[in-house]
Amino acid sequence: MKNESVTLQELRSSLDQDTQKKTKFVTLLEKHHDYLEDCISVLTDRDAAADEKRVNLSCFLHILNMHAKAEEETLYQSLVESDEKEARLEGVAGQDEHDIAYQLAGELKSMDFDYEWTEEVDAKAKVLANLVLSHLKEEEGVMFPTARKNIDGEELQELGAEYIDKCKSYLDAEIKISGVKPFIDDAMVASF
Ligand SMILES: [Fe+2]
Ligand SMILES: [Fe+2]
Repeated sequence: MKNESVTLQELRSSLDQDTQKKTKFVTLLEKHHDYLEDCISVLTDRDAAADEKRVNLSCFLHILNMHAKAEEETLYQSLVESDEKEARLEGVAGQDEHDIAYQLAGELKSMDFDYEWTEEVDAKAKVLANLVLSHLKEEEGVMFPTARKNIDGEELQELGAEYIDKCKSYLDAEIKISGVKPFIDDAMVASF
């Protein structure tokens, strides 16, 4: 079982690498979906141990917050401002689904699942995981192709750069909340 600290720090350093490599916007979004899907597969596995689910839910909530907020402020904003109805509808529907996910995430946080993995927590985590899974599939199958069709290549590249910057600041805040030590790369260590 991977621990939360390793996963969040690995994601944090991958953001720096993606800035350098100028990774394409949709590739980035899909990469972050993969992180979420890894957690979802544990949360929906009836044979997974409670402790494994607890760690994965905690990690999932941090990554979900980073990805969803940064996605709203870049991709969704561009879609809802589009001249094309299909693009606007995708943006509005995506936001509605995020809002439902935030509500469930808030309920889970207030249930103190870190102390006790109850049946109520298990059920709600599964509902959230399945909701987010269907949301990710809808984005990959419909929203991202719609974005590629309606947003020109240059704007997509700019949105991608903006998205990474936002992910970095959201993830740094999440790492602080989680109590995981902030990531320090080798170059920083060498400068001391
Ligand atoms: Fe989304
Ligand atoms: Fe997404």
